[in-house]
Amino acid sequence: MCGIVGYIGEKQAENILMTGLKRLEYRGYDSAGVAIVNNDTLHMQKREGKVNELETALDSAPIEGTVGIGHTRWATHGPPSDRNAHPHVSSDGDFALVHNGIIENYGVLRKRLKEKGYTFQSDTDTEVLVYLIEEVQNEAGLALPEAVRQALTQVIGTYGIAVVSASDPDLLVAARKGSPLLIGVGDGEYFLGSDAAPLVEHTRQVVYLSDGEIVTIRRGGYQVRTIENVPMEKEVHELEWTLGEIEKGGYEHFMQKEIMEQPTALEDAMRGRVLPDDNKIVLGGLHDVMDDLRDADRVIIAACGTSWHSALVGEYLIEHFARTPVEVEYASEFRYRNPILRDGDVVLVISQSGETADTLAAVREAQRQGVMCLGICNVVGSTIARETDAGVYLHAGPEIGVASTKAFTAQVIVLAMIALKMAEDRTLSHAEFADAVHALASIPDKVRTTLEMDGQIEKMANIYRYSSNFLYLGRGFNFPVALEGALKLKEISYIHAEGYPAAEMKHGPIALIDRFMPVVFIALKDSTYDKVVSNIEEVAARDGSVIAITDEGNGELDELCEYVLRIPQTQEFLSPLLAVVPLQLLSYHIAVMRGCDVDQPRNLAKSVTVE
Ligand code: AGP
Repeated sequence: MCGIVGYIGEKQAENILMTGLKRLEYRGYDSAGVAIVNNDTLHMQKREGKVNELETALDSAPIEGTVGIGHTRWATHGPPSDRNAHPHVSSDGDFALVHNGIIENYGVLRKRLKEKGYTFQSDTDTEVLVYLIEEVQNEAGLALPEAVRQALTQVIGTYGIAVVSASDPDLLVAARKGSPLLIGVGDGEYFLGSDAAPLVEHTRQVVYLSDGEIVTIRRGGYQVRTIENVPMEKEVHELEWTLGEIEKGGYEHFMQKEIMEQPTALEDAMRGRVLPDDNKIVLGGLHDVMDDLRDADRVIIAACGTSWHSALVGEYLIEHFARTPVEVEYASEFRYRNPILRDGDVVLVISQSGETADTLAAVREAQRQGVMCLGICNVVGSTIARETDAGVYLHAGPEIGVASTKAFTAQVIVLAMIALKMAEDRTLSHAEFADAVHALASIPDKVRTTLEMDGQIEKMANIYRYSSNFLYLGRGFNFPVALEGALKLKEISYIHAEGYPAAEMKHGPIALIDRFMPVVFIALKDSTYDKVVSNIEEVAARDGSVIAITDEGNGELDELCEYVLRIPQTQEFLSPLLAVVPLQLLSYHIAVMRGCDVDQPRNLAKSVTVE
């Protein structure tokens, strides 16, 4: 949700913090702020709006100092404003704090602190934490790190926090519970980040703070303890990402770059895993649990948003190949429904960021009930990746655009690998398996061919840029793709759009059809083609404006449709990987033409770390 950065060392902190905040802006862009200690004084600047608003303020009043913290906000408590922006400062002006998460018992604490004479400047839950620490510190005469630790034992909710103090300029304190936080280990300097993006250009050595841990960082070193005051030895990990990967690389938007990167991302997702020469699929991360997965009585896939759409494709893939029953769950519903899990069940969660709070809770619910929980994640070292029993990394590279694109296709291809692995020598013959392995290997080039339609789709977007509603329809493997197409358009262009199984249209949505309603059909020449064509005729009969995605060389739909986009042919189970690409491009170009902030759409954030 929000983004936190921190620095302590010998260099000027302001520039390091600001560059870091820009790299984290996809996590929230309602307001931003920094606090830096210099000459035993706390200096702070914060502004409503994007990081560049803060930058403008700092240009006219730069802050010196070599220890500081920064924050970019996704508002949960209190509207975006200067006074609700972080950092928040103690009433004695000594220390400042930034927070990512939600303090659930802030109401009770706020009331108690008010009775003790604290005056609140903002509407935020975070300010409560500041005064609670101050209260604990004053009552017991504690040093700041200890006061932070003790105060956190009274907090219910989630947090990633960082704190600096004017009276102790060789100190940076941080703690986490539920929200991600990494320490970047440099040479005589240390960095903090909510993820690896602000750290990559400074160091590749990182320590992942786990839930319930607090770290005291000084220029001479750091010490990690649990909130219960138990010292912890932490492993230092090597970061995979490169600086180039988190830059736009000449594209106008990260989303555009990530759409265009899909062929390479798919090759990277299959590298060392899909071996067409040996007719093999190797999933090292699932090696120890593959037998359990193959013998599973039921697979439950839990996820959110776009990852939930790939989970739906996963249901079709696993049931089609392995004939194992699959249930797909919204992670947010799964965790509160006290789900009935039995021996023989396997829970599989999917999360690009590996930090989505509801999906993380689904992991913990499965483990609470003693059921094996596997994961598919993109961010290496993320909380879900570290807490699941085993899993598969996407290796799709960093996804910075808030609207997920390459992660979706990489998730689908990993799910296809898992389904085939479950079916190998069971429900699939050698020949069928080998066929499927070769089809997988041919996908990246087919995506490259599909991306060549970019110009054509840009022209088309010009026609539909003023639409106020859209309908997306698909069947079978491509029903989830219809949902995904609708979500992409909604997210970045703010046009209302709905996805449905094509047959479902007759049971209601058809009432929406008129000549102002663009209807996008995924109409590939597969097992459901004839049925989809009938649905197209039903829409055309009501003057609907039809856009069809169909196979290369298929001219049958030209009469019926306003636009026909033809994609390379492939096996039905892989068609979602191609059919989604024109939908990604359509939403992208429409959003650009409507002047929307494509990479940072309003009200959204890249990783939803609060409930
Ligand atoms: C998709 O474009 C959105 N950004 C959002 O729906 C996202 O898929 C969802 O929040 C899940 O994120 P995750 O894959 O990181 O868990």
